[in-house]
Amino acid sequence: MKHLLKLQDLSAKEITDILNLADQLKFERKHGIDHPRLKGKTLGMIFTKASTRTRVSFEVGMYQLGGNALFLSGSEMQIGRGEPAEDTARVLSKYLDGIMIRTFDQAEVEKLAAFGTIPVINGLTDYCHPCQVLADLMTIREFLGSFRDKKVCFVGDGNNMANSLIVGCIKMGMDIAIACPKGYEPDAELVKWGYEQGKLTMTEDLKAAAENADVMYTDVWASMGQEGEAQIRRAKFEKFTIDRDLMSVAKKNAIVLHCLPAHRGEEISAEVLEAHAKEIFEQAENRLHAQKAVMVRLME
Ligand code: CP
Ligand code: NVA
Repeated sequence: MKHLLKLQDLSAKEITDILNLADQLKFERKHGIDHPRLKGKTLGMIFTKASTRTRVSFEVGMYQLGGNALFLSGSEMQIGRGEPAEDTARVLSKYLDGIMIRTFDQAEVEKLAAFGTIPVINGLTDYCHPCQVLADLMTIREFLGSFRDKKVCFVGDGNNMANSLIVGCIKMGMDIAIACPKGYEPDAELVKWGYEQGKLTMTEDLKAAAENADVMYTDVWASMGQEGEAQIRRAKFEKFTIDRDLMSVAKKNAIVLHCLPAHRGEEISAEVLEAHAKEIFEQAENRLHAQKAVMVRLME
């Protein structure tokens, strides 16, 4: 593994290795064992979209690994004024040991990787969010023990989260059911792939998707960059909420996950979010451990 651009590029074995290392790093951290495995290394973090979890967990993670992280605001860099990703990649490769980038276009991330000589980590694009799903998989295994015979139900927009969940869940052997409104389906190629694997179902019927689910997952109706569509989306997604009624058809001990930030009363009720805060905030914590594992594998 040279980069983390999208989960399709990783084998099930590579994902398992990252999750195992993440568990180990989490254990070491909890037991006060230092692990300065990236001493003297620097990660550049380019953000052209907002972030709380990704920014803080990468920066703290790098610090805990003995290295440094630089926050680079996309709008204040020359890339924000049109300097090509091809040149940015070659320049940053001279100073840094790795790049994390959060941006709109997946092609920009792929270009940085193609033209640079250092590992590139995708910290979210419109297309996918691989770091989040690695933390999600870590959390599922932590709470449910294994992936065997597990069903994940995703409710809402067929967005970057849905795309990465399809790949991550199926690669780890789980079934995934997606409930989304017509016209808001995940990426067509990924849907085709999911059907070919015999592990994906898609429906507009929320209860059919949630039936017997071990994991209930949702994300915002309007993602970053879609603020202008928020009102239309609110009408289209009105029913697409994880609430107590929907939880009644999932498994009794089902966990609830949300990548956050959450909009209570939209994609998730305040009641369900608070009832499942234990999982949801452990999931947020696991961003730190999973990304540290990714950085160790890519940069050590
Ligand atoms: N889940 C997630 O990526 O959060 P941030 O947008 O706060 O980084
Ligand atoms: N789908 C959301 C995820 C945020 C972590 C967005 O792209 O804004």
